[in-house]
Amino acid sequence: MGTLRLGVNIDHVATLRQARYATMPDSKNVEPGPIAAASLCERAGASGITAHLRSDRRHMQDRDLKRLRANIMTKLNLELGHTPELVDFALRLQPDEICLVPEKRAEITTEGGIDLVRQGRGLGSTVQRMHLAGIRVSMFIDPAAEQVNAAAELEADIVELHTGALANAFTEKVERQELDRLRDAAMRAANLGLQVNAGHGINYRNISLIRQIPSLAELNIGHSIIARALLVGIETAVREMLALMQDYRG
Ligand code: PXP
Repeated sequence: MGTLRLGVNIDHVATLRQARYATMPDSKNVEPGPIAAASLCERAGASGITAHLRSDRRHMQDRDLKRLRANIMTKLNLELGHTPELVDFALRLQPDEICLVPEKRAEITTEGGIDLVRQGRGLGSTVQRMHLAGIRVSMFIDPAAEQVNAAAELEADIVELHTGALANAFTEKVERQELDRLRDAAMRAANLGLQVNAGHGINYRNISLIRQIPSLAELNIGHSIIARALLVGIETAVREMLALMQDYRG
């Protein structure tokens, strides 16, 4: 197995900016800037930058994504809910990858995987449109066999396994159960030829559990890195996480 790559989700840099400047986006004082943050993450060794464009534009704005597309040297992964508006935006933007996620307005962050078993049919044509445009497609799913199988049937390139239940487990028993589910799903996905990523709730402590999941190619980490960046700076925060990801055995 090769090294475990890190994609940094920089949504919360935009969250902080919007907290002050949502109503005055053209102010000369607008900060912090997601593009500067992305460059620093790349300089610190991130393999990619992830951003989620939400229908309500609560953090990232359309022009952030356009600027990120123009400035990123590594790889841009655009997370989006499956709506016609966002799909059209993605096709115009041409990110390297998209990751389809469920989107409920009330949630604070993405609360669970997309249900491919129930929504599958509608997603097939989107996967094909992305492939025609040269964009790889990831599906953010719960670690369940039927979801992994459905991703393969839809001809997704990547599954991103939702690690939230492991990250938020209150007891060791639940932690073990969730780790088993993630292990099984990762092995199944790898056997089906899918690239296996993981994300949600990964931090500097639970990364030691995440490392026990086999066949991982990439982790997408947002909140914990941006939170740590407030204290130590974003380059240091990224380097610290990369150090904890080293020598992953797969
Ligand atoms: N991966 C996906 C698909 C997500 O939706 C999110 C949250 O936006 C993340 C990764 C990052 O999660 P966190 O901010 O908890 O690290």
